[in-house]
Amino acid sequence: MTRKNYCSALAWLLVVVLFECYCCIEKANSASVSYDHRALVIDGKRRILQSGSVHYPRTSPEMWPEIIRKSKEGGLDVIETYVFWNYHEPVRGQYYFEGRFDLVKFLRTVQDAGLMVHLRIGPYACAEWNYGGFPMWLHFLPGIQFRTTNSVFQSEMQRFLEKIVNLMNEENLFASQGGPVILAQVENEYGNVEWAYGLPGPNYVKWAADTALNLNVSVPWVMCQQYDAPDPIINTCNGFYCDQFTPNSPSKPKFWTENYPGWFAAFGSPVPQRPVEDVAFAVARFFEYGGTLQNYYMYFGGTNFGRTAGGPMIATSYDYDAPIDEYGFIRQPKWGHLRDLHQAIKQCEDHLVDGDSTQQSLGYNLEAHVYCISSDDCAAFLANYGSSSDANVTFNGNTYFLPAWSVSVLPDSKNEIFNTAKVTTQRSIHDSPLASNTTRNEVSLGESSWSWHKEEKGISGSNNSFTAHGLLEHINTTEDTSDFLWYSTSFVNDGQAIDALLNIESLGQAALVFLNKNRVAFGFGNHDIAAFSLSQKVTLVEGTNTLDILSMMVGVQNYGPWFDVQKAGLVAVIVADFSSGINMLSSRDWDYQVGLNGESLGLEKEVNAANSSLWTQGTDMPISESLVWYKTTFRSPEGNGPLVLDLAGMGKGEAWVNGQSIGRYWSTYLSPAAGCSDTCDYRGPHDAKSCLTKCGQPSQTLYHIPRSWVHSGDNLLVLREELGGDPMQISVLSHTGQEICSVVSEDDPTPPESWRPNMEFRSQSPEVRLKCEQGWRITSINFAGFGSPEGDCGRFTPGACHADMLSVVQKACIGQEGCSIPLSSATASLAEACPGVSKRFAVEALCS
Ligand SMILES: *[C@@H]1O[C@H](CO)[C@@H](O)[C@H](O)[C@H]1NC(C)=O
Ligand SMILES: *[C@@H]1O[C@H](CO)[C@@H](O)[C@H](O)[C@H]1NC(C)=O
Ligand SMILES: *[C@@H]1O[C@H](CO)[C@@H](O)[C@H](O)[C@H]1NC(C)=O
Ligand SMILES: *[C@@H]1O[C@H](CO)[C@@H](O)[C@H](O)[C@H]1NC(C)=O
Ligand SMILES: *[C@@H]1O[C@H](CO)[C@@H](O)[C@H](O)[C@H]1NC(C)=O
Ligand SMILES: *[C@@H]1O[C@H](CO)[C@@H](O)[C@H](O)[C@H]1NC(C)=O
Repeated sequence: MTRKNYCSALAWLLVVVLFECYCCIEKANSASVSYDHRALVIDGKRRILQSGSVHYPRTSPEMWPEIIRKSKEGGLDVIETYVFWNYHEPVRGQYYFEGRFDLVKFLRTVQDAGLMVHLRIGPYACAEWNYGGFPMWLHFLPGIQFRTTNSVFQSEMQRFLEKIVNLMNEENLFASQGGPVILAQVENEYGNVEWAYGLPGPNYVKWAADTALNLNVSVPWVMCQQYDAPDPIINTCNGFYCDQFTPNSPSKPKFWTENYPGWFAAFGSPVPQRPVEDVAFAVARFFEYGGTLQNYYMYFGGTNFGRTAGGPMIATSYDYDAPIDEYGFIRQPKWGHLRDLHQAIKQCEDHLVDGDSTQQSLGYNLEAHVYCISSDDCAAFLANYGSSSDANVTFNGNTYFLPAWSVSVLPDSKNEIFNTAKVTTQRSIHDSPLASNTTRNEVSLGESSWSWHKEEKGISGSNNSFTAHGLLEHINTTEDTSDFLWYSTSFVNDGQAIDALLNIESLGQAALVFLNKNRVAFGFGNHDIAAFSLSQKVTLVEGTNTLDILSMMVGVQNYGPWFDVQKAGLVAVIVADFSSGINMLSSRDWDYQVGLNGESLGLEKEVNAANSSLWTQGTDMPISESLVWYKTTFRSPEGNGPLVLDLAGMGKGEAWVNGQSIGRYWSTYLSPAAGCSDTCDYRGPHDAKSCLTKCGQPSQTLYHIPRSWVHSGDNLLVLREELGGDPMQISVLSHTGQEICSVVSEDDPTPPESWRPNMEFRSQSPEVRLKCEQGWRITSINFAGFGSPEGDCGRFTPGACHADMLSVVQKACIGQEGCSIPLSSATASLAEACPGVSKRFAVEALCS
């Protein structure tokens, strides 16, 4: 070897070493993501994945880590979120990624917790979000047609897709770069509306697919509810059940991108719920039938702060009856039962992804799916999919009790570790700690010092006013810069004062009517039909009469074919008086004003709170009067949990805390009286209307104030009351503890050792498990009995067969954040007593 050769060899070696090193560093952090017919393949390994939707702007960034931690503890692998174009690009070309909209920070929070991300870029989001996530300026681009083959729309959509993909690339957020993003979505549920777009519809789908693929991201793309999603884009299922779904190509895995643990709420509509036994059944059936990724929509729903709620009439709470409630508390037994299910399925992961599946009938409405890696290494799902009859089935020589509408999971094809209808996890005594005055702190604002500002009842002469001929369309006119549009006109009554009939037709969503500055009517639509009409007897004065109509939006439509051009506002105004006949006011000149005077003045702002020319104080505060702004201050209760404003005594409006909008409220809009029932049978197919609550009541009276929005001094509360309410009835609530409960029976499956927290007792039996949130500790045991306790959580009393377990439970639990006690520790106490009785172990405790 010559010296020269030696040197170049050395240099080459160096290059190779450096290159190898560079590669190994890259490999350590990055993951390759692909898929085959069975599953998503991450770093060469097929995965069974549990996913949950958490939308970053629907809570405060301070809450993100806790929500993600609870998601992870709940057994999720993946967090799924939409990207909200209208807030990221409020003005064309001007981007915003701060505060609640700091997408990168949110994704990093997920990554730091060790979870993965499914990023649904869309950019159409739907999501019960204002205008489905489209910026309103898009509507005004000349020649645009949304979500179809239209070059104006397509170039804007492509630009935003590129913007987000570039952001992900720059921040190294894709899995191949060491980031958490393993899946990306383009469009959203277009298959549901494609029929309405004719031939350009399917062409648009192809274009959207090509455009996404041309972005060269290193992760697979998804199109949900898109039967014609072109290869290699994965078409996925959204629905209450997706076990019978098959992807449009045998090369694609079976994904369920929206599994609803409840449903959204709308003002004036009952609030939907879904029992956890049914959610668990649907999930277990999905994996039993070859599913591989399942996403709860929502796992944490949160709050539609400000004017982010979609429409019509989407409520401010986006709680969704999700496993984590609107305030970030774990909802039991939903969260815990699903966690147990996720752990049970995880134990079957190897069998599910690599085993051969066989299906066998076990009787009428009874079946098993068995996944075997080898003939003696199988996992099994046993299902009773009948909705009324329980059954004992024989499988591999053993007998299993399968309640109606349930699935049992047997990771070794023998031991049942979970059944979807046997809830052994912790329960709550109330749906929310706020529902009980033992765990709720309530500070009334009745004694507070209030100020007010009466809004103009008509056009105030601000620079947002103008005159136009005829009735203008509401959204086109306001460009959604405000919920409000004043329509004002005047007309002459030549004769004496006379009774007349005022008829108003509106396309939505609500309108407050003033004749000669007196309120004469209020009309409104509902979530299903935004349009409404009003017919009101009025008295016309002699001479000039003024008519001021305040048209209102409560969220811009977010769903449906061509939803983006859905109209709102007045379309006909007619005064019929019996002497001079019919007076069509619709086609006159009208004066308009976009927004309220108080909005132009910035009454919600902290800088204006001390301005005495804006705010009046005194003893004659207007109550139950339309269009009044109110202001006070409050001290936040101690603690670090969320705060809640009880607005039951108010009408309709919006509320701000320290200048930040906590959302619209509408306490006086009651849902229809019929349609709810006290009990909700988990058995049989469920949909959004199966289990309704709050019939005949307001859908929402409690409004979330994130803890990080308040400080230890005086916090400013401003309300814009539109219909009339009594602010003296407002109170600020906080959680001081929680009442928890656990019940297990001798027949329940024994959870595997690995599931149990590291606690004193360990045995092969079901366990009573208790855990407090917020760092609270168990301070009292209100019931602890073994045998045949009567009643249910919150109302337990000793049954005929009873062993008092109070001292045992007190010893194990008092002063602890959590505890678990095996049922076997109680059985000895009733060893020979009560033969033939299947015994239960029930505990009620207070955390504070
Ligand atoms: C994606 O890759 C193709 C082929 O290499 C290339 O032509 C195209 O410009 C790339 N697109 C982007 C957005 O980088
Ligand atoms: C299942 O078996 C148990 C124990 O033998 C029995 O008590 C129960 O009635 C059976 N249930 C059904 C639905 O057959
Ligand atoms: C709590 O509520 C119950 C019933 O709702 C009532 O009887 C009781 O007086 C209340 N306790 C307090 C301390 O307000
Ligand atoms: C109205 O006036 C405000 C400030 O007084 C200004 O910020 C706003 O741009 C004006 N609007 C129009 C439409 O001129
Ligand atoms: C709304 O504005 C668009 C675009 O300027 C226009 O084409 C449409 O006719 C308007 N609709 C109404 C109802 O005024
Ligand atoms: C108070 O509000 C009025 C009306 O908007 C305004 O003209 C005035 O400048 C404000 N005063 C202060 C001190 O901000």
